[in-house]
Amino acid sequence: MKLTILGGGGFRVPLVYGALLGDRAEGRVTRVVLHDLDAGRLSAVTRVLAEQAAGVPGAPEVSVTTDLDEALTGADFVFSAIRVGGLEGRAQDERVALAEGVLGQETVGAGGIAYGLRTVPVAVDIARRVARLAPDAWVINFTNPAGLVTEAMSRHLGDRVIGICDSPVGLGRRIARVLGGDPNEAWIDYVGLNHLGWVRGLRIAGRDELPRLLADPDLLGSFEEGKLFGADWLRSLGAVPNEYLHYYYFNRETVRAYQRAEKTRGAFLRDQQARFYEELRDPEAAALSAWDRTRAEREATYMAENRESAGAGERDADDLSGGYEKVALALMRAIARDERTTLILNVRNHGTLAALDADAVIEVPCLVDANGAHPVTVAPLPDHATGLVCAVKGVEREVLTAAENGSRTTAVKAFALHPLVDSVTVARRLVEGYTAVHPGLSYLK
Ligand code: G6P
Ligand code: MN
Repeated sequence: MKLTILGGGGFRVPLVYGALLGDRAEGRVTRVVLHDLDAGRLSAVTRVLAEQAAGVPGAPEVSVTTDLDEALTGADFVFSAIRVGGLEGRAQDERVALAEGVLGQETVGAGGIAYGLRTVPVAVDIARRVARLAPDAWVINFTNPAGLVTEAMSRHLGDRVIGICDSPVGLGRRIARVLGGDPNEAWIDYVGLNHLGWVRGLRIAGRDELPRLLADPDLLGSFEEGKLFGADWLRSLGAVPNEYLHYYYFNRETVRAYQRAEKTRGAFLRDQQARFYEELRDPEAAALSAWDRTRAEREATYMAENRESAGAGERDADDLSGGYEKVALALMRAIARDERTTLILNVRNHGTLAALDADAVIEVPCLVDANGAHPVTVAPLPDHATGLVCAVKGVEREVLTAAENGSRTTAVKAFALHPLVDSVTVARRLVEGYTAVHPGLSYLK
């Protein structure tokens, strides 16, 4: 089985390859093709993978290419994990927004819109090529903003593109553990958009245990989201939001904290990863240990700003790097081997949330089998959550239109309609600011 990884020179690729190395089952991936625009990054990552594979019998064979069509041809699965504009682009997304006094973050608010505007045209080009060169392939989209990008690709690939994220499953596991349940057995009643969802129930052995959590201040104070949002607010909501909702519910505090920070997350990672790729220009450098060291540092600082402000502790290692690649591998196995499973994924709505149309990509538990991912029926969201979901989906749709018609006016509309952008004037300046720094936005006229 051939797996193609787009963004194959990316820092997280060794996590994916590590997960593949642990898969010994029949029908596993035997060939991995890494595609990237940057040959230097490809060669650095290939060296890490070669060290990972040393001594592992039957390790998937790895090849690299900078030719996209060659990479896609004959692929059974495509992992799309690109970052248009790189981490420098992410840092600019954050900086421009914060300078305007609004949230500058990778996927949420103005930063996420800028990232989406840059990424959608590239993702659509990939989707068109997959439809032509590998029409039977399944595309697993890692690329952020994941819900929006998956929806853009689904217009060309239908339900053969599935978006993934590690945050809902991480949240569900943390709650299950706090409640003394087995995270693998718990049923997580979660729904929303990517990075904009809520756990409304958690069933262990047929019983909803979430009310027990919400009633117990000690339990609420013992896990990350409990500390982040505070017991009172979680009780008021009657649900546990995805950590990204902190940017909505505590917007002022986060914007201020981010404005005061010495470096944004994107700038920190940009500098940190530049050192890693630089280190590997030395052919003698120990690639895997350099990668491991860099990764440990990255994880130790994940969402540090939020955690500090909430007084929360370190994350369980299993909740960190254990995320994306595990979801991707579980999804790929379920499809390739018809091993039925349930995963929280980004798929087309198909009537699951009544307030959205059938083609809107949402994040929801899905039954997965050889025919793909099928969203399960869920209880409706309360009005305040439906309101946010619809507002943000409306913004995503403007981003998709802007990427299609190349209109600055539509781009302004996307920013202006976002709940975290408080003025049309600010939206106009954001478009000015972003188009001035991002070459990937030069299509906006
Ligand atoms: C989580 C989210 C991802 C996001 C990442 C950022 O894993 O689910 O969508 O990209 O955090 O982490 P980073 O270490 O890049 O700040
Ligand atoms: Mn995510």
